[in-house]
Amino acid sequence: MRLTVLLLVMTGSTAAIAACGRAPAPQLAATEGLPPPPWTIAHRGASAYAPENTIPAFLLGAEQGAQFVELDLQRTKDGQIVVLHDLTLQRTTDVATVFPDRARPGPDDPDRKLQWWLEDFTLDEVRQLDAGAWFDTKFAGTRIPTFDEVIGAVRGRVGIFIELKSPELYPGIEGEILAVLARHGLDRAGADPQTPIVLQSFTVPSIQALVAAGTTLPRHVLIGARDADRWLSDDGLAEIRGFATGISPEKVTLDTHAAGWRRAAELGLPSTPWTFRATTVKGFDSVTAEMAHYIEQGATGVITDNPDLVP
Ligand code: G3P
Ligand code: CA
Repeated sequence: MRLTVLLLVMTGSTAAIAACGRAPAPQLAATEGLPPPPWTIAHRGASAYAPENTIPAFLLGAEQGAQFVELDLQRTKDGQIVVLHDLTLQRTTDVATVFPDRARPGPDDPDRKLQWWLEDFTLDEVRQLDAGAWFDTKFAGTRIPTFDEVIGAVRGRVGIFIELKSPELYPGIEGEILAVLARHGLDRAGADPQTPIVLQSFTVPSIQALVAAGTTLPRHVLIGARDADRWLSDDGLAEIRGFATGISPEKVTLDTHAAGWRRAAELGLPSTPWTFRATTVKGFDSVTAEMAHYIEQGATGVITDNPDLVP
């Protein structure tokens, strides 16, 4: 089913326009300073070509023309904010070799599988890990970066889509993330048009905590397919509008909840679906064709491992 609403977010303006004869939708102050759509959002950096969530992946995403890099934030044992997707370290680092005796089962794991949990390691220990060689030996020596280091590396080159990953495990992380942004002067919407910031999470109370902390930064609710009935409904979107400024839906929901996508656009909520990968295309000739379809249907941006393949 073809959607007929195209949402335009004008750079530096407060106007959002719902096309096709609809009256202009009210724009939220938090979208000030965002680039004109469609946005290319490099998922964990240009993660098809460089190790995910590392500075080489983020810089490559910027080189490939992305308007944003997406990253995942968590906290070390000693309270430092680092960039890592999994709660555990073994998939993307050599932790099993460097710290062979530090694995333990997860609290609810009936299989008692031994894993290396980020929350058990200090930043000094995390810095000893190689986060590049698993992907390609040419990236050997690449480290898990701190949030602060990533900002320093990409500032002025590209924006940042910041995912608070499992924030319920890290009480108070919302204020700590805002404090890092404040140190860089990036804690206000529109503070640096060269480095726009969007916050996002699957965890709604965490987004609400960001609001309670007084942020004016744009905030997207991540919506997985299993939560689409709740959030991509009229009531759900009205609720979202009370604490967030946009949505990041799993891409399959365009097919299952087309009316919700239309309603979000009518409400002036930008939509940034995920995740587009050249390796997992179904129903299209290429990931480029797939992303073109979503943009045509009104997506404000696409979150992709392949920023170079965005049409
Ligand atoms: O930004 C959307 C996407 O990153 C959510 O999924 O698991 O890759 O963090 P995940
Ligand atoms: Ca993510």
